Amino acid sequence: MPEEPAHSAPPPESVAAPAPRTRRRVRVSRVLLLLLAVVAWGVVEGGVCRVRRHELAFPDYPAGAAPLRAAFLTDFHLDRLASARRLGRIVDRVNAEAPDIIFLGGDYADAKLERLDDCLSELARLKAPLGVWAVLGNHDHVHAPARVLSALREAGITPLENEGFWLDLGGGRIRIGGVADFWHGRPDWEAAAGTAGPGDFFLLLAHNPDYTETLPPGAVDLVLAGHTHDGQATVFGLWSPFIGIPSRHGQKYRAGLVDNGRTTVLVSGGAGGLIAPMRYFAPPSVEVVTLRADGQSGRP
Ligand SMILES: [Fe+2]
Repeated sequence: MPEEPAHSAPPPESVAAPAPRTRRRVRVSRVLLLLLAVVAWGVVEGGVCRVRRHELAFPDYPAGAAPLRAAFLTDFHLDRLASARRLGRIVDRVNAEAPDIIFLGGDYADAKLERLDDCLSELARLKAPLGVWAVLGNHDHVHAPARVLSALREAGITPLENEGFWLDLGGGRIRIGGVADFWHGRPDWEAAAGTAGPGDFFLLLAHNPDYTETLPPGAVDLVLAGHTHDGQATVFGLWSPFIGIPSRHGQKYRAGLVDNGRTTVLVSGGAGGLIAPMRYFAPPSVEVVTLRADGQSGRP
């Protein structure tokens, strides 16, 4: 009898390699997830707004005057993507700080001013016993600066376009002024200084910190500026690849306190964002600044 053929053992189970189309889908899904995570990070960080506190003493601040607590908000950039409710929450937080005076640094809406009224209806709620004072930014100057100026006034905010005033603090007075935008206006610090001399404390609002490089040394004690948004996107807060777009001085005026040998500049990180309200390791901020004379101590 012919031998029955031996049954051969079944081949070991093997894992089939995914088809090229499946591998492509997996790769595309991973890239989409990564993009989604990047966008989500930017939106979440862009939605937060820090209150940064600064205690600054100056030899020209009148020794007999009480310290002055000022809030400084700038670069709202309220456009179609930004939230007026978020701005409303920022206004509530600033009011809760109970500042003596409030300064605004410009760039209220996008350049077309589509949401200027939304922005100013929130900013109109800012409250301080010594008033709310403002300058314009480059975006406010592009199409209709006169419209922004009148909208500010209607909101109870006083614009300072190359203007200034004396603020009597009881034991002394200080000069406060504001200049037109450096890119699109004609800033004039001398017009803002008025009769202030070298011994007077002079605080200047200037949207663009690059303007401070044109000031004579010692003419202005403190400049409050914005415009650079802390770079808006940085490498772990250390370096911003985009800062060269708004500033000719590299990382110098990204955010924070800068002594440039001419004056002291406090650059706010700004409350909003350009193009989209997104930030990366450069969180939005408003500043609360306590000014006092050299040698004065303690909180007001
Ligand atoms: Fe700006």
